[in-house]
Amino acid sequence: MKEVLVVYYSQTGQLFDIVGNIASAMKDKDINITYLEIVPKNAYKFPWKKDAFFDVFPESFLQIPIPLKESDPEIFNKKYDLIILGYQVWYLSPSIPINSFLKSENAKKLLNNTPVITVIGCRNMWIQAQEKVKNLLISCNAKLVGNIALVDRHINHISVLTITHWMFKGKKDRFLGFFPKPGVSDKDINNVVVFVPSVKEALRKNNFMDLQKKIVKLGAVKIKPFLILADKRANLLFSKWANLIYKKGEAGNPKRKKALILFNYYLLFAIWVIAPIVFIVFLVTYIFMYKKIIREKKYYSSVDTKNN
Ligand SMILES: Cc1cc2nc3c(=O)[nH]c(=O)nc-3n(C[C@H](O)[C@H](O)[C@H](O)COP(=O)(O)O)c2cc1C
Repeated sequence: MKEVLVVYYSQTGQLFDIVGNIASAMKDKDINITYLEIVPKNAYKFPWKKDAFFDVFPESFLQIPIPLKESDPEIFNKKYDLIILGYQVWYLSPSIPINSFLKSENAKKLLNNTPVITVIGCRNMWIQAQEKVKNLLISCNAKLVGNIALVDRHINHISVLTITHWMFKGKKDRFLGFFPKPGVSDKDINNVVVFVPSVKEALRKNNFMDLQKKIVKLGAVKIKPFLILADKRANLLFSKWANLIYKKGEAGNPKRKKALILFNYYLLFAIWVIAPIVFIVFLVTYIFMYKKIIREKKYYSSVDTKNN
């Protein structure tokens, strides 16, 4: 019998639908599935209030953990043949609940020497978050063997508008009645099962060596070169903002509130003014950057780390 653990956190249910589809397709007479839902002690409310949405920025980006509710201790007494780790991105980083889990003693125990497949469901900016998750997995002595990243496939600015509508109104429906639906499409959520036969085969053979290459061919990860650049740049700038705001004190502190309002305006400016300029620069320099782009696409599609 092969034991598979599915670890996830999901506010709207999108990520749960994704990992749930994978798990249902994996279940077999020789494959047993266990779920571990990550639950923060103080739940993040959904839909988001604008203040709360911005208030999680410094702690998300600086990867500061929060207390989690205790889970069934039985889960931690088993050794798993594979762990599927479903996570979403908050501010270019793994969401606070998932970061908190990965930094916990429970995660160290569960993940030690265990193959892990990460499953991401986000808007579209996940590349640097995955680098952060790779580091967290290394600190748990886990072996990253696969990555599936599902995103909103619409153009960047459309997805910004539609996800804002979803996060603040709470409904995954069409903004103003005519924009495309936000987030990962129903089609992609249902199609995620196409990766399962390769995962099962690797699990049964206990050999995950070529798994990522196989599932990338099936479309598990699609790297948009502009987003590599945008993600890196945004990480540099977010780092400055996050440290500055964090120093102002805890949630509710008036100085922090003021800094968060400034950050809100800055974010709008970055998305609607800076990003299009960076995009033009990207297009103009594309030909000179071609080799680097090909190298980076290969690296970010893989489960390699910078050190190997
Ligand atoms: C506070 C917050 C920050 C987010 N930041 C990002 C981001 O930086 N990049 C991205 O691609 N998606 C981002 N998202 C979208 C989430 O990754 C995710 O798709 C969405 O919250 C739905 O996830 P869930 O219902 O499964 O929890 C953010 C969402 C929230 C709530």
